[in-house]
Amino acid sequence: MKPRILVTRANFPEVLAHLAARFELEDNQGDTPFPPDELRARLADKDGALITGFDRIDAPLLAACPRLRAACNIAVGYNNMDLAACTACGVVATNTPDVLNETTADLAFALLMAAARRVTESERWLRGGHWRGWQVDQLLGQDVHHATLGIVGMGRIGQAIARRGRGFDMRILYNNRSRVAPEVERALDARRVDLLDLLRESDFVCLVLPYTPESHHLIGAHELALMKPTGVLVNVARGGIVDDAALIAALAGRRIAAAGLDVYEGEPALNRGFLALDNVALTPHIGSASRATRLAMGMTAAGNLIAALAGERPPNLLNPDVWERRRR
Ligand code: GLV
Repeated sequence: MKPRILVTRANFPEVLAHLAARFELEDNQGDTPFPPDELRARLADKDGALITGFDRIDAPLLAACPRLRAACNIAVGYNNMDLAACTACGVVATNTPDVLNETTADLAFALLMAAARRVTESERWLRGGHWRGWQVDQLLGQDVHHATLGIVGMGRIGQAIARRGRGFDMRILYNNRSRVAPEVERALDARRVDLLDLLRESDFVCLVLPYTPESHHLIGAHELALMKPTGVLVNVARGGIVDDAALIAALAGRRIAAAGLDVYEGEPALNRGFLALDNVALTPHIGSASRATRLAMGMTAAGNLIAALAGERPPNLLNPDVWERRRR
């Protein structure tokens, strides 16, 4: 009998066909997200799951799904998965790194530029019929070129953002748990500094770090107060890293100049305070959203699932302990 799998959200026909050739597949092309109870019930008789970053895989769910052997995220972030619980239950957990680095860095830079140069605000103003002609001080923004870019989280996406910054002759600072390889630092002309110095010195602060209990509200009122009044904050990482209420207060009080956001606390719900502000560019969690990249993510996740259910080590294994234990 073929292993049974659940694909929790709609996906491209190529991805589903790849999986359907090997598995008995239940999909959700209707794309209505499963509430936790329904996810648990649907996974109760499955061997594997292709999930998104919004499907929570935790101890109560795993206890109700004794057949489950693999949970494969279509996302690089995996804060939706309790890795310790997966390991305890012998469930392989995987993510989709690398294939989205450049696409996500593109969006980070798009938000950075949009916020700096007031692009979305200008468009709203123009569409609103307010333009009466050129003026010397109309919609003045911040220069991006030759400014200082501070990157919090210098992983693969952070480095891709730094490369874009170098193309704009920016000075690169970064904050990361560990120092990146000296040759990477050299190539990017990047200097590691502590978070508070990064906030004080940067014209643009770009967040690309994982969301963990330690990074919850890493950027709150105190940190925002350290930024330059001309500073711009960009978040393409996860909602919850920024205290959204504090950010709204800082933007409304012009404590910082602007922000560009792709992720929000409690999304898809959004603190409506953002909607009243001109100095924030908002996108709905589209960091990796090009067709090529989303397809590559789906195929990568499918490859992880196929390997895991064939008893092979999946390329993007997040909990190697589970694997070592199986080998013994
Ligand atoms: C998207 O947010 C991802 O983690 O891939």
